[in-house]
Amino acid sequence: MNRICQLFGIQYPIIQGGMVWCSGWRLASAVSNAGGLGLIGAGSMHPEVLREHIRKCQAATGKPFGVNVPLMYPELETLMNILVEEGVKIVFTSAGNPKTWTSFLKGHGMKVAHVVSSSKFAVKCEQAGVDAIVAEGFEAGGHNGREETTTLCLIPAVRRATSLPLMAAGGIGTGSAMLATFVLGAEGVQIGTRFALTKESSAHENFKQLCLSLNEGDTKLLLKKLSPTRLVKGGFATAVEEAEARGASVEEMKELLGKGRAKKGIFEGDLQEGELEIGQVASLFRETQTAAEVIKEIMEDFRYSSINTSLSL
Ligand SMILES: Cc1cc2nc3c(=O)[nH]c(=O)nc-3n(C[C@H](O)[C@H](O)[C@H](O)COP(=O)(O)O)c2cc1C
Repeated sequence: MNRICQLFGIQYPIIQGGMVWCSGWRLASAVSNAGGLGLIGAGSMHPEVLREHIRKCQAATGKPFGVNVPLMYPELETLMNILVEEGVKIVFTSAGNPKTWTSFLKGHGMKVAHVVSSSKFAVKCEQAGVDAIVAEGFEAGGHNGREETTTLCLIPAVRRATSLPLMAAGGIGTGSAMLATFVLGAEGVQIGTRFALTKESSAHENFKQLCLSLNEGDTKLLLKKLSPTRLVKGGFATAVEEAEARGASVEEMKELLGKGRAKKGIFEGDLQEGELEIGQVASLFRETQTAAEVIKEIMEDFRYSSINTSLSL
C-alpha cells in the first residue's frame, strides 16, 4: 500500500496544501470527503477562528483531515493547545524549524509532516522525528525557498537524503505531473494552486477569475529580502518589482508590504493593492471546478498516464 495513504488513512495520496485565505473548513472537508487529505490553513486565522473551523470540519466530514501551521505564526502556543483540545490528528508544519514543535505534537498522538525546500532541511526533519516530508519546489504558489530549486531537481535530491514518506509540491496540478513526481521518488503530492481556484476555496471570485486567466510567465518570485513569495505580476507586484530594482532595504520593503495585503488580495479581491499569491501551474487551468472534480480528474489522468507511459528509446 502507498505509505502516504497508510500514514494518514486516506484513499488517494493527494494533499490539499494549507493556504492562507483559501483553505477553511469548507475546502478541507470537501477534499477529505473526495478521498484526499484536506488541510485547514491556520496561517490566516486567529486561534478561536481556527477552533471554529476545526469543529465545522469535524461536522462536515468523517474522514481524516489536518491543519497546516506556519511556524512563524505569532500566537503559536495558544494555537498548538487548540489543536490538542480539539483532537486534531494530523498537522503539517511549515516556514520554520521542525525541531521546535514536532515532539510536542507527536507526544499528543498527532501525525506530523513538515514542508521543506531543500534536502538539507529534509535531513533536519528526519532528526526532528517527523512522520513525513513535503518537498516544495520553486514553481509553487505562496512562500518559497531561497535556493529556488525546482520540483524536478528537488524531489530526487530529497529522496536521496531521506527514506521518510515523501510528498512533492510545486507545479503539480495534473495526474501526469503527479506521476512524474512519483517516478522521481515521491509517494504523494501536495497541491495548492489548483485547489485555491475551486468552488470551495474561500478566495474571492476576482482572485480566482484573474488566476484562471493567467498565462505562462504571469507570476514571479518577489519579496526576496523578506520571505520569497510567488505573486501575480501587475498591481502591487509592480510596486514590489520597482522597489527591488532600485535596491530598497529590508525596512523599506517591510513598509511597502505593510499588513494585511494577502487578505486584501486573496480574500477581499482587491487586484490592485492586494498581494496575489499563486503558483506557475495556474496557467494550465481555465475553469472553476469542485474539489471532488479536481481529485477525480487527477486520479483518472494519473492512471491513464501510467498505462500510456511505457516509453521506449
Ligand atoms: C494562495 C496560497 C496560499 C498559501 N498559503 C500557505 C500557507 O499558509 N502555509 C503553507 O505551508 N503553504 C502555503 N501555500 C503553499 C501551498 O500549501 C502548497 O505547498 C503550494 O501551493 C504547492 O504548489 P502549487 O501552488 O504549485 O500547487 C500557499 C499557496 C497558495 C497558492
